Amino acid sequence: MVFTPPTNFALFKQRRKQLVESLRNQNKDQHNIIMLIADFETDRHIFRQESSFYYLTGITEPAVILCIFPNGREILYIPQFGTKRSTWTPTMVESLNDASKVGVDEIRFLGEKTAGYSYSSVFTKEKYVHLIHDLANALQTHETTQVATLRDQSHGGLLWHIDLYNHFIAELPALAHQTIDCSTLIYEMRRIKDDYETDLIYKAVQITSMAHKTAATLIEPGTHEYEILAAVECVFTQVAAATPAFPSIIASGQNTTIIHYTQRNRQIKDDDLVVVDIGAEYGMYSADLTRTYPVSKQFTPRQREIYQKVLDTQLYIESLAKPGMFLKNARYPEKSLHHLAVTAFERQGLAQYFCHGLGHYLGLDVHDVGDLQQPLQPGEIFTLEPGVYIPAENIGIRIEDNYIMADDGIVCLSYELPKHPDEIENMMNLQESNNASPE
Ligand code: GLY
Ligand code: MN
Repeated sequence: MVFTPPTNFALFKQRRKQLVESLRNQNKDQHNIIMLIADFETDRHIFRQESSFYYLTGITEPAVILCIFPNGREILYIPQFGTKRSTWTPTMVESLNDASKVGVDEIRFLGEKTAGYSYSSVFTKEKYVHLIHDLANALQTHETTQVATLRDQSHGGLLWHIDLYNHFIAELPALAHQTIDCSTLIYEMRRIKDDYETDLIYKAVQITSMAHKTAATLIEPGTHEYEILAAVECVFTQVAAATPAFPSIIASGQNTTIIHYTQRNRQIKDDDLVVVDIGAEYGMYSADLTRTYPVSKQFTPRQREIYQKVLDTQLYIESLAKPGMFLKNARYPEKSLHHLAVTAFERQGLAQYFCHGLGHYLGLDVHDVGDLQQPLQPGEIFTLEPGVYIPAENIGIRIEDNYIMADDGIVCLSYELPKHPDEIENMMNLQESNNASPE
C-alpha cells in the first residue's frame, strides 16, 4: 500500500474556498488577500511541506507562495531558479507550467532569477520583487484590503514564516497594519477530518499496528532497544514506504519512566517492561500508538496490577468520550477527559504518577493543531494515552490508541491491536509457538 500523491487538486481548492468564506463571514466589508507560504528546505535531501500549506494546496514544493486575491483570483508564485532544479532533487517546480493542473488560475515567478537550484527564506528583495509589486497594487485597490496569513506565535515551527513576512512588511510598510492572523480559522478546519484524511490516518494506524505486532515478538532478554527500533522502522518501510511520524520511543527498564526517551541503546533485561510508542506517517498523515510489553512475556503481579489500572482508566475514558466533552479544559473538569482521568487515577492512588496530558489531536501533525479547550466534535481524530510512571520501581506503563469521534461516541481506529494484558502476553508468545517444531 504505497501512497500515491493526489493528482486531483479539487479537494484542496474546496478547502481554500471554505477559508475564503470563513474570512468573509468574519467581516463582510473587508477585502482579503490570503497569503499561504510554503516551508523552505533546511536539508538538501528531504523536504516535508508545512502542514497547513499542504492542507490548503496539496503542493509539496518548497518556497512557493499562493495568494488568493479579493476578486478570487489564485496566483501561485514560484522561485525562478538559475540552475535546473530537477537535476539535483525531485521537484514539481519545472512541471508547474500549467496552472490548471494544480487548481490555481495563474503561475508567476516570485521575483528575479537567482543562482542555484535551492531557495531559502533568507530575504533578498530581488527574489520576491514580483510578489511584492502585486501585493502593493492589490493593497491600493481598496482601503479595507488586508492580508490574512499564518502569524501563529504559539509553536516555534513557524518562526521562519514570521521572519519572511516581517521582511515583506519592511518592503511594504502598509502591511504592518493591514495583516491579520488566520491560523485559528485554518486550525478549526484541520480539526475535523474528511473521508480522505480519515482513510490515510487509518492506513497509518494499520501500518503502525503491524510494526507493534513485530516488535512484540522480538522483545527478549538480551535484545537491545535499537534492534526493536530497527524492526519497527523496517516494517514501516517494507509494507508502505512509510516513515516514522516522530522519533520512535523504545524504552526499557528505568527508561520506561522517561516519557520521550529516544536514546534506544540499552540492552533489555528479564523482568523489564518495554514501552513502544511509535507512529507511521502515511500520505502526510500520522498514527501514534503505544503498548507496554513485559520482557519475560508475562507481567509480574505488580506490573499487571498497574497495567490493569492504566487500561481501566483508558476504557473508562473511552466510555465517556462524546461530542461536547473536552480533551482538556480546566474550566469544566467534569466534562474534561484529562481531568476525569486524573480523578480516576486519584481513586486508584496513582494520580501523582500520571504526569502528562491524556491525549492530543492527530492528523498532518502528530500533535495536530486544534484547541484542546474546545468541545469535541464528530469527525475529530485524537489519541487517549493514560500512563503511570514509578521510577523507584522501574515501572513505566502507557497505553495509547487512536480514535475518531462519531455522533454518539468514539470509534477506536486501532481496535485490531491487542491491549488487554492476557492478549499482550499471547501476542508476545506468538513467535515462540510459530517457531515450535511439531511433536
Ligand atoms: N507519541 C509521543 C507523544 O504523543 O508525545
Ligand atoms: Mn501521543
